[in-house]
Amino acid sequence: MPGTAALPLPRTPVLVLTDPHGVRRVLVDNARGYGKGTIQYRALAGVTGPGLLASDGGTWRRHRRVAQPAFHHGSLGSVAAHAVDAARRLVAEVDALAPGRPLEVLGATSRTSLEVVGHTLAAADLSGVAERLVDTVGAALEVVVARAASPVPERWPTPARRRLRALVAEIDAVCARIVAQRRAAGRLDDPAAPPEDLVGLMLAAGMDEREVRDELVTFVVAGHETVASSLTWTLDLLARHPRVQQRLHAELAGVLGAPGAAREPGWDDLRRLPYTRAVVDESLRLYPPAWVVTRQALADDVVAGVAVPAGTLVVISTWALHRHPDVWEQPEEFRPERFLDGTRRELGYVPFGAGPRLCIGRDLALVEEVLVLATLLRGHAVRPVPGPRPAVEALVSLRPRGGLPLLVERLAGSPA
Ligand code: HEM
Repeated sequence: MPGTAALPLPRTPVLVLTDPHGVRRVLVDNARGYGKGTIQYRALAGVTGPGLLASDGGTWRRHRRVAQPAFHHGSLGSVAAHAVDAARRLVAEVDALAPGRPLEVLGATSRTSLEVVGHTLAAADLSGVAERLVDTVGAALEVVVARAASPVPERWPTPARRRLRALVAEIDAVCARIVAQRRAAGRLDDPAAPPEDLVGLMLAAGMDEREVRDELVTFVVAGHETVASSLTWTLDLLARHPRVQQRLHAELAGVLGAPGAAREPGWDDLRRLPYTRAVVDESLRLYPPAWVVTRQALADDVVAGVAVPAGTLVVISTWALHRHPDVWEQPEEFRPERFLDGTRRELGYVPFGAGPRLCIGRDLALVEEVLVLATLLRGHAVRPVPGPRPAVEALVSLRPRGGLPLLVERLAGSPA
């Protein structure tokens, strides 16, 4: 069967899935037959603890219910406002660059996405503290990813293990500060105005410090680097496809006004920017930040005609699925129009996963990305710098190795 490969590895049987039927079976139709006890999620849990991404069963269900209100439709209006605010600072950063000097895009989009996720996590201003948290979590994940690829048994006392322990202690301390700040900000037990931020919701639900810490770290991992990765690749694709960028500029000018006089976008504009949204969808197809999704079979199963014994590691290659020739015409091409015709691709397109474990931050990420792009590109254009493109590095999410410099120039008619 194309798109399904059983790899006879010595200890754990492995099934690599790249076809939509198999993905449906594992993520949706038989979702309860698969758990998160995979080597990837165990490694992640070394940093996040049993947070929403890495946990299963009762803990996961309870925590998901507590977190959900922070992602309801009603909360997305304030996400939209924070996204535009953060993007305005990105534009100021671009405008402060010396003429001809490229923008380091991954660094810039990381600052933007951190600002937005920070507001979702805790209503209190987290600037400073959040950056420290992201830096330590990023460093800890690097140790964990390197260790997962190393043949040294996990329990050996290596320098990497000691470094991880020190980083996790620092993460714990920063989280304790964030929780204390949020408690001090109050408004946790007013039934007329329940908290809308994640830390507030968790504290109000009576979750203990450890549980709150695990979810905080989980949300930093899940909601920060993924969005930054996606925005970075979107800007790279636009720089390399001038005709797509022209069409996007035309849509923005039609809705927000000509470059010199364009107003800021907002929540109400989202449904009026279908092409900008299609650009984001198509970029998530070609560069899905969550490039693999893994599961462990809890019992024997049959997936796309292949017998799957209990214990099998199932690796869903989102990257390969999104380029599957049975699902996508000219899969290697960047063609946002393919998302305008309303065709449902069922499970041939899963940048946010599917089934009960669908990404809780999907709508937030899409609102944020469309509005950041609209705010930046209503008055600016991106162009590649001369030289080779950076290689794609597949770590926790997909990153351009060594960063991505792009030229960002004012559009004619835009005020200097
Ligand atoms: C472009 C941005 C994003 C992408 C591509 C993405 C992708 C994903 C994927 C593929 C999963 C499913 C993993 C699995 O089934 O094993 C997931 C889960 C999750 N994501 Fe996202 N995500 C993004 C943004 C966000 C944001 C902004 C947040 C929060 C602020 C977030 C929080 C989470 C959480 C907590 C889970 C676990 C949900 C659960 O199992 O209940 N993600 N994400």
